[in-house]
Amino acid sequence: YTLAIMNDAIKPGPETPSQAGLPELSVVVPTFNERDNVTVLYRRLEATLSGISWEVIFVDDNSPDGTWEVVRGLARKDSRVRCVRRIGRRGLSGACIEGILASSGPYAAVIDADLQHDETQLPKMVALLRSGEAELVVGSRYIEGGSADSFNKQRAGASQLATEVARRVLKVEVADPMSGFFMIRRDRFEQLAPQLSIQGFKILLDVIATAQGKLRAIEIPYTFGSRQHGESKLDSMVALDFLGLVLAKLTNDVVSLRFLLFAMVGGTGLVVHLTALFIAHEIFQMPFAEAQATGALIAMTSNFILNNFLTYRDQRLKGFAILRGLLLFYLVCGVGLLANVGVAFAVFDQEPIWWLAGAAGALMGVVWNYAMSGLFVWRK
Ligand code: GDD
Ligand code: MN
Repeated sequence: YTLAIMNDAIKPGPETPSQAGLPELSVVVPTFNERDNVTVLYRRLEATLSGISWEVIFVDDNSPDGTWEVVRGLARKDSRVRCVRRIGRRGLSGACIEGILASSGPYAAVIDADLQHDETQLPKMVALLRSGEAELVVGSRYIEGGSADSFNKQRAGASQLATEVARRVLKVEVADPMSGFFMIRRDRFEQLAPQLSIQGFKILLDVIATAQGKLRAIEIPYTFGSRQHGESKLDSMVALDFLGLVLAKLTNDVVSLRFLLFAMVGGTGLVVHLTALFIAHEIFQMPFAEAQATGALIAMTSNFILNNFLTYRDQRLKGFAILRGLLLFYLVCGVGLLANVGVAFAVFDQEPIWWLAGAAGALMGVVWNYAMSGLFVWRK
């Protein structure tokens, strides 16, 4: 008897049909320090999506300005609003991927929080997906009717250059693959998701390049507005992320930017080491063994700092974690040196060519250091 009552209570009554069903559209909004923008965006979504069943998922990387608190406030009043708060992670692409994967409706849109994208295009985008004309709808600044007038000269030039590179090198046919404003069928996205890079800014480019022409795309024009509050998170490092993405897509994920950066930092370490050795041994007359050890320690320290700043800037260690990370890094590199020497000896034993043995050892060392640093020092 009790069960029957409970079942009755769970059964959706005829008066709540839309609440029982899934939202048709999930709007994903990546945020970092957008406290003053999220409420305005929410109101605009509410106004423009009145005919559609929708939800909005804010993915916030633990913004220092407390954006997630404001979003939680909205979520408490409206169950269509959800807040994903990520701690210890940074990245626009990763946030978008996580947001889309957290949704379950048939269509997912990505839109910036800062009101630079034109949310009034969303119903048109839904219509194009519904009709089956497209599987991906791109909000485009670079087709007839669209524009990016709010860009300064430098930003406009960079955007155009990146677009050219993407179109030529990755054979992307969309006019504005750098756009961060799009809507996609979630099932199609889910098929591509395992190959997408969580690093970087250019999620749409990644989606299009990964699909390799197998995604029916339509572009609709919109005007890229200017930011109302707060500031852009785009810095010169974004260029690095972009190159990394192009490289990864070109080589089918064999070459990762992270590994290249790690190896490059290792190269600078060699220079640092030799310089320190020279100063300690030649100038300060330190015995060779001690000078060599000092050089190694200084080089490892500078490698650690550079890697924390560049290679792993999306998961940069801060505060006390830096010291712990540095000690672990010494440990990893110490064992890496043993592996290096071991492999070099083994190769030399087979084939006494000094440079071949040396190179094999060095390669072993950098691969070891890279793998173990990712596991223990900058883990996650
Ligand atoms: N969760 C999360 N994590 N969100 C982020 C991060 C991050 O690390 N970095 C930026 N965002 C959010 C911002 O809060 C904003 O909502 C959106 O991503 C876009 O970031 P902006 O800092 O406003 O970038 P923009 O205006 O310079 O770049 C825009 O234009 C490009 C086209 O040129 C973005 O829309 C890009 O996606 C777009 O490609
Ligand atoms: Mn912006």
